[in-house]
Amino acid sequence: MCEWFSFAFSNETPERSPDMSLARPARAAALPLALMAAVALAAASLTAPARAADEVNVYSYRQPFLIDPIFAAFERETGIEVNVVFAPKGLVERLKQEGANSPADLIFTVDIGRLSDAKAAGVTQAIDDATLSANIPAQYRDPQGHWFGLTTRARVIYASRDRVAPGEIASYEALADPEWRGRICTRSGSHAYQIGLTAAMIAHHGQEGARAWLEGVKANLARKPQGNDRAQVKAISEGQCDLSLGNNYYYGKMLLDEEQRPWAEAVRIVFPDQGGIGTHVNISGMALTTAAPNRDNAVMLMRFLASDLAQQMYAEQNFEYPVNPDVPWSGLVRSWGTFAADDLPLERIAQNRAAAIRLVNEVDYDG
Ligand SMILES: [Fe+2]
Repeated sequence: MCEWFSFAFSNETPERSPDMSLARPARAAALPLALMAAVALAAASLTAPARAADEVNVYSYRQPFLIDPIFAAFERETGIEVNVVFAPKGLVERLKQEGANSPADLIFTVDIGRLSDAKAAGVTQAIDDATLSANIPAQYRDPQGHWFGLTTRARVIYASRDRVAPGEIASYEALADPEWRGRICTRSGSHAYQIGLTAAMIAHHGQEGARAWLEGVKANLARKPQGNDRAQVKAISEGQCDLSLGNNYYYGKMLLDEEQRPWAEAVRIVFPDQGGIGTHVNISGMALTTAAPNRDNAVMLMRFLASDLAQQMYAEQNFEYPVNPDVPWSGLVRSWGTFAADDLPLERIAQNRAAAIRLVNEVDYDG
């Protein structure tokens, strides 16, 4: 096997310390007992036991610690080793360069854009699998079978409990209103999460509508875009701004973190556009590579990740929404309420990404 590296930082959670070694799944010692029992049952039903030397290789844009417990469950029960290469960028390009000789079997991402990029680059292969089709609704997988969503995540507005009344902000569009001048914090407009939202705004309001919106939001910023989603909530808790945009699962992560809990307690979640286009939703997902030297093991891992058990782990540990409709949301996530999601096809968001990146640059959003 080739030499594997993991990289030092991520867009997703830069505050976590890096793991510079070959990433191997951590033992899932923190799993609730009920979940541990379910792991054994679910994995036993997956397939016949694999040889201990078996492996599956993953290229991941997603930080290993987020998915390690799930990989560890798979590894423990099947005997198949999961090797992970993490990188914040460049994995599609790397797959392209490696071509048929790539050691990678699967690629993992945290937004539709990169799944779509991977398919367009020709580094993925289609798979028609009854288990995947049964567990993942059609709206969350590629019609040709090149990529599959694993979780969905809502891009919400975080609003100051002290300075924003309930109902005072209800839509993405209103973030551009002059009443919010100097009161909004966001991360870079070029981050995949912001690009996804801007791409959706282009789909709904056209290029010029989206441009006016971006310019309006920029005019309302309290500071230059900086930091990650959680850093914006921290800024609200410190009084620097009153509103921010962020993925919903960070609310759960902050509430469970002693240092960050006060940040979360300073805000409430607003699911935007409930009377209109619905809240913007993106996916994390996976794709089988063209090379896939361990194809059978990779397909087994894909099925495992779409199973009730792994989906429950995503829900309980990461506070994401499972794509598998049979799996309930975590209790904490349920406590934030239900919402109407924007039903824009993910492909439309992917198609508008290049235009969204152009717009962000043209309005100099980060400047
Ligand atoms: Fe994230």
